[in-house]
Formats: sequence, structure tokens, C-alpha cells
Amino acid sequence: VFANVVQAPEDPILGVTVAYNKDTSPNKLNLGVGAYRTEEGKPLVLNVVRRAEQILVNDQARVKEYLPIVGLAEFNKLSAKLILGADSPAIAESRVTTVQGLSGTGSLRVGAEFLARHYHQRTIYIPLPTWGNHPKIFTIAGLSVKTYRYYDPATRGLDFQGLLEDLGAAPSGAIVLLHACAHNPTGVDPTLEQWEQIRQLMRSKALLPFFDSAYQGFASGSLDIDAQPVRLFVADGGECLVAQSYAKNMGLYGERVGALSIVCKKADVSSRVESQLKLVIRPMYSNPPLHGASIVATVLKDRDLYNEWTVELKAMADRIITMRQKLFDALTARGTPGDWSHIIKQIGMFTFTGLNSEQVAFMTKEYHIYMTSDGRISMAGLSSKTVPHLADAIHAAVTR
Ligand code: LMR
Repeated sequence: VFANVVQAPEDPILGVTVAYNKDTSPNKLNLGVGAYRTEEGKPLVLNVVRRAEQILVNDQARVKEYLPIVGLAEFNKLSAKLILGADSPAIAESRVTTVQGLSGTGSLRVGAEFLARHYHQRTIYIPLPTWGNHPKIFTIAGLSVKTYRYYDPATRGLDFQGLLEDLGAAPSGAIVLLHACAHNPTGVDPTLEQWEQIRQLMRSKALLPFFDSAYQGFASGSLDIDAQPVRLFVADGGECLVAQSYAKNMGLYGERVGALSIVCKKADVSSRVESQLKLVIRPMYSNPPLHGASIVATVLKDRDLYNEWTVELKAMADRIITMRQKLFDALTARGTPGDWSHIIKQIGMFTFTGLNSEQVAFMTKEYHIYMTSDGRISMAGLSSKTVPHLADAIHAAVTR
């Protein structure tokens, strides 16, 4: 009965890892998926995560019961505090409802489905370009996806004018997806002044902000600084949605732990919103997994563990910045044609190199370097040892 099922293409990001795993070359290098690697090229489990897990294992009172539909209450509270700030008036006034989600993707999906059911506008504007999963998540939830200009290939920076024009022309009430920090794939963020202009424009047109916060701590190295754009929007008392992921900043990729917060104008609205979120979640996956959320809650509620986390997070962010400098230096030393300063200007886990899909295919074929076909490289997957190999490949790709 399934004989007519056609072969689906691999995912543009996760499919890169599938291809990488099949490659038998000892020099192969995976710069596709945004996953942090050590200088030795190994995945990293944060020490603070190991400590939290030890605490959980030693606690004999812990059981494996179902969590509530909305997840671990303590985790939800602490997650809202992490992104909105300890002194957030929205939290103090009980205007925020937070549910645990299956990392960033699951949190976005639940938020999208809630909007499709309960919000009067079905159009969501996403930046061009954006993370490849965004349009799929919103489309499948029943929203209609449009784009707004974001990245200017000529300057390899923000097309701020284009962004303002496109959001200015959006219908009143439309939903707007915003990357809270460390924009994926471009590594280009608005300045705080530009964020303020975006906020004013959006509020004046009643556009609804939906933040995707997947890299808090990776843009500046500070959790609070990276949360500023979200807090700017929450400070004006208006509504917004925020999807958080702990995949990158706590290295909990496979634990699938994240949160969705919906900031409302009034506390009673917020509790009704929560009741509807439960109706979205229950038929989708019943209730979320316990382990990852317990790790996060253990870290966030303990001052020592929290401080240790910020140090480890900063070390990851700093190593990525060092890789940017090393790659830039290596290309400069090779005299590779073109201006490569965007490698050190862009922020977060990725560099949007400007290499085209043919050049990427060449680098994969000849140098066994795996990256997404849009020319994005995960700087977090690079190490001092592999920088020369990558620089050789880029040089050959642009000079051939
Ligand atoms: C990425 O963009 O590489 C990450 O967000 C991982 C993913 O799920 O795509």
C-alpha cells in the first residue's frame, strides 16, 4: 500500500550530518549543524550539567512520574526569569504563561498552533533568510508565511531599511518572527537602537512579536545582554511570544528541552491562554520529558551552579570568537580574494560566508568539508587544528 510513496529529500541542515557520517575520509569536517565541539573536535557535556545530573541521581526521592501537560513548574518559572529578567514586571504581575517545550522547535510549534487557533491574524513574517525549519513549522501549524528583508548580501550586514519598509507594509496585527540574538544563519543582529526602532514600528502597527531565542549567551557571552531585545518589547507592557532552547547554551541538544512563554496584558488572560496551550499540547505529545528540564532547573535555581554555567557558556562563546579570528587570519595569510571581515563581524555560532552552493559542493567533494548549501558554516564545529584545512578549501573554492 505504500508502493507509491516517493523518496523525500534529506533535511537541508540535519541531512548534512547524514552525508558526513557516510564519508570515510580521515580529514572530514562537519560544519553543518550548529553543535558545539571542543578544540579536539569532540561534543561537550558541560561540567555543570554533569554536576546537576549527579545531584538528580543521588536524590532517592526522585521518581519518574508524568509531568503535568505544561511541564515542570519550577523549570517554567526559572526559564521565564532567565529570558525576561528577575525583575520583570510581567512576571511580578502574573501576566506570563510558560510551558515546557521540546527544545526550540517544539516550543515554536506549540506557539504557532496556539496562534493558528486563537489569534485573529494568520500571517507570520519571517526574516529572509532564516533558519530552514521556521517556514515549515509555521506552515504546518496553519499559518501563512511571508518574508521580510533582513540580510543584505552586498554589505553582508543588516538590510535595516528593507526590514523597516517590509514590516511597515505588513498588515496590521500580523505576527513577526524575530531572532532574539545571534541570527541564524547570518550572524547579523540589529543594534539595540535599531531594535528600539523595530519595537516602535511594530507596536504602532500592532504587529505581534514572536521571538525565537535559541542562542541566549552566545552572541555577547552574557545571558542578560543577549536578552535585551526581548526585554525591550516586554517592558512596554505589550504582548509577545518567546520560544527558548537550551540545546546550545546548556549543550542539551538531545535532551530536547525548551520553553514557550506568552506574555499577556492581564493575569486572567494569561491563565486562559495557559488552559488553551494545554489543549494544544495534550494530543501532540501529552506532556514533556522530565530529565532535561530537571537538569536546567537544578542549574538555574542554585547560585553556584548558575555561576559555573555562565563561566562555561562564556568559554564556549569565546572559543568561537577565537575561531573567527583564526579563520580570518588564515584567509588573509593566503591572500584569498575578497573581503572576509564579515567573519569577525558576525556573531553567534555561524558565519554566513557568502560562498555559493557550487563552491560549497566543491569544498565537500574535494576537501570533505560539510556545510549547508547556503554557505553557512558552524564556527562552533571548527578548531585551531582544522582552520588551515577550511582556509585551504575556501581559497581553492574562490580561486578556481
Ligand atoms: C542549526 O541551525 O544548525 C540548529 O538549529 C540545529 C537544527 O536543528 O537545525
